[in-house]
Amino acid sequence: MPLQPPRRLVDVEIDGETVRVPEDATVLDACAAAGKDVPTLCHGDTLTPKNACRVCVVEVAGARTLAPACSRKVEAGMSVGTDTERARHSRKVVLELLASSVDLSTTPRAAEWIAEYGAEPGRFGEQAATVAQPPKVDNDLYVRDYGKCILCYKCVDACGEQWQNTFAIAVAGRGFDATISTEFDAPLTDSACVYCGNCVEVCPTGALSFKSEFDMRAEGTWDESRQTRTTTICSYCGVGCNLTLHVQENKIVKVTSPHDNPVTHGNLCVKGRFGYGYV
Ligand code: SF4
Ligand code: SF4
Ligand code: FES
Repeated sequence: MPLQPPRRLVDVEIDGETVRVPEDATVLDACAAAGKDVPTLCHGDTLTPKNACRVCVVEVAGARTLAPACSRKVEAGMSVGTDTERARHSRKVVLELLASSVDLSTTPRAAEWIAEYGAEPGRFGEQAATVAQPPKVDNDLYVRDYGKCILCYKCVDACGEQWQNTFAIAVAGRGFDATISTEFDAPLTDSACVYCGNCVEVCPTGALSFKSEFDMRAEGTWDESRQTRTTTICSYCGVGCNLTLHVQENKIVKVTSPHDNPVTHGNLCVKGRFGYGYV
């Protein structure tokens, strides 16, 4: 692995505490260095920031507007407030808008953040517009449940230019009716999809989920507290991708891949992701 060139370090202040981070770090990196827990949804550790959800906003001293921590780069001497009244209010409203229109029941930590920021998704009334719709179950490998989609674009970026270069999915429609779709809304089986599952790997809400997980959730048998995770090497070819096997009751229930692998960055092909039936 090539060594990274040395990077200059800069001091930034996070909630009054000075931390030293590389000059190309994001505010989110600096917050993590300071031990601050800033919520994120559209941020992906293997993807270019999209600035779609705005749940990560922080207050930068001297700035007119709040800044998305996930994409804003640090500057020497910058002073950031992660938990100011203005940042908290903005996160509250973002969570209210999302939770009133999208099913966040499988979004990790959504319920915790809604409570933490005092969000009241019900305040828009029962007639509030929603993206509720039946899940698309059109193949044996993964399910698209767009009633849970927050339009973060991570799946589109993973399928397209940032990783897979398959371009099987994109945003269709405008405004509130915008949705993630295959070309002409074809079933996945008639689309360009190659079933790498790299979109499922990055989806932050469970809108995309492995069919195995979807079925077990429907049966009420999905239980992460009873699952083990074992990272191993894919046996199909010489690339040597890392696989993390999620096992419940001695059965593989899904396969993910470590995001910090310097070669694959959490991406797999259909064989590594779904070809575990022989085990
Ligand atoms: S499984 Fe792979 S090819 Fe298919 S839509 Fe997802 S990222 Fe694209
Ligand atoms: S399906 Fe998931 S990854 Fe894709 S835009 Fe919706 S929430 Fe984001
Ligand atoms: S996590 Fe920063 S804008 Fe979505």
